Amino acid sequence: MKVLRYMAAATLALVVGLVSTVSASDPPAGEVLFKAQKCIMCHKYQTPDPKVEVIPDGPPNLWNIGDRRKAEWIIPYVKKESEIEGRKHKVIWKGKPEDLVVVANWLVTLKDPLYKAPDTTKSETLNAPKAEPSNK
Ligand code: HEC
Repeated sequence: MKVLRYMAAATLALVVGLVSTVSASDPPAGEVLFKAQKCIMCHKYQTPDPKVEVIPDGPPNLWNIGDRRKAEWIIPYVKKESEIEGRKHKVIWKGKPEDLVVVANWLVTLKDPLYKAPDTTKSETLNAPKAEPSNK
């Protein structure tokens, strides 16, 4: 009887384990790869805390990268095939090329919910100052 009860408990634990691996709270695949490929050693991607001082020339926090870059820009840049104002990226992608596509497609989903791109369809907004990302 004891053995049966043990087996029932083990089966239940297995089922619960299987269900939890596909739960909605799992991080996106791109985020998992971002950590696995050590991008996390230099880049933060959480909304910056306004109380914490930002190091001006440090690696950029990618929390709102989706407001500035497209996946088609990120992929060659992280492969060091393109540059920012003559500067290539610090490290070269060492993972599978298809995994970089997953990472780039995840990065572009990181957006400041308060940022609104200037509306270029209205002429009077063409010279309007750029909206500053705000944490208020
Ligand atoms: C050794 C530190 C370091 C590591 C590791 C690193 N980066 Fe970077 N990354 C930087 C720095 C520094 C910059 C800014 C470079 C510049 O402005 O010339 C940057 C810039 C970027 C940008 C452009 C940001 C922008 O504002 O346009 C992206 C996208 C990016 N990194 C993605 C990645 C990804 C993906 C990985 C993981 C494969 C990674 N980085 C790993 C240091 C790092």
